[in-house]
Amino acid sequence: MDVTNDGNEGAAHASLPLPARTQRGPDDDLVDRASEFISGGDADGFMDVFNRLQGSPATPPGEISEELAPRVREFGLERNCRELWEQGYTVVEDAAPPEYWRDLRATILKAASGDPGARAGSMGSTLMPSYPVVAEAAINPKMMVLAEFSVGAGFILSNVASSIRRKGDRCIGLHCDQVWHPVPFPEHNLFLTACWACDDFTPEAGPTTVVPGSPARRRPPNLDEIGSTATVPIECKAGSIAVWDGRIWHDNAPRTIDGERAVLHVSYTRLMLRQMEVYPRSVQDRLVERYGEPMAQLMGRYDFLAKPEGKAYVDGFMRAIAYARR
Ligand SMILES: [Fe+2]
Repeated sequence: MDVTNDGNEGAAHASLPLPARTQRGPDDDLVDRASEFISGGDADGFMDVFNRLQGSPATPPGEISEELAPRVREFGLERNCRELWEQGYTVVEDAAPPEYWRDLRATILKAASGDPGARAGSMGSTLMPSYPVVAEAAINPKMMVLAEFSVGAGFILSNVASSIRRKGDRCIGLHCDQVWHPVPFPEHNLFLTACWACDDFTPEAGPTTVVPGSPARRRPPNLDEIGSTATVPIECKAGSIAVWDGRIWHDNAPRTIDGERAVLHVSYTRLMLRQMEVYPRSVQDRLVERYGEPMAQLMGRYDFLAKPEGKAYVDGFMRAIAYARR
């Protein structure tokens, strides 16, 4: 299926049938009732739903919501959730079979060779519509669960990029990923990066390096700290996903061995924050048609924010409130 942009930006999105929301909590029943109250002209009923949702208890930072807990158990992600919260990073294994990883690596190399401006990889909202293996990484079920733990229910996609690292390539320097957000960073994480390692991350291979526990500082490093802070490498086998919190201080180590380190970077953000990259409406529609419910969520289609009709998308409005509490 061709999922490139056809330039049809004017289509009203609310009329498009979205895939049914299967991941529901008790508050989703309230959300459904809000639409019924509005269509029946019952303003009191609508306000009652709003008040119940805004006053409902929120999952504390670092804890797993009641709705998410069964999926965390199903995928055996308890340790990853704990590490991500306490240390700011974790490594996810067995997220996809070996043939998938071979395909992903070949795709990253192919995408870079077809993009003359991107010797070291490709950035922007071009990869996912062109390469199914990349879209499948973005909606990987295990990652969707871990991301919901870290950046909340209804989280959205922020960006997808590939990178190829070779011997002698520059290091990026110590930084944190959610650096465009005000300081101090909130107690909740806002941004999550998943680094699909298609090659081994050994100390010589140019792996990502991190300062464990640095999310607790809730700020980026200052100039002195950039030059003087010790980091440790994230070591993992090819076929693992290195995942880190938007507040963790990280860098990469120089690559001192021959060959190429191919990585796909997928980042997710809380539903109320703007994405690094946006997809034209027509491309969104085709991606949603092809990849279903998780893609609709990643495109922000279940909430009301940044839509032409704003709060008139009533269940999207209520859902955003409900999701922000888990
Ligand atoms: Fe980074």
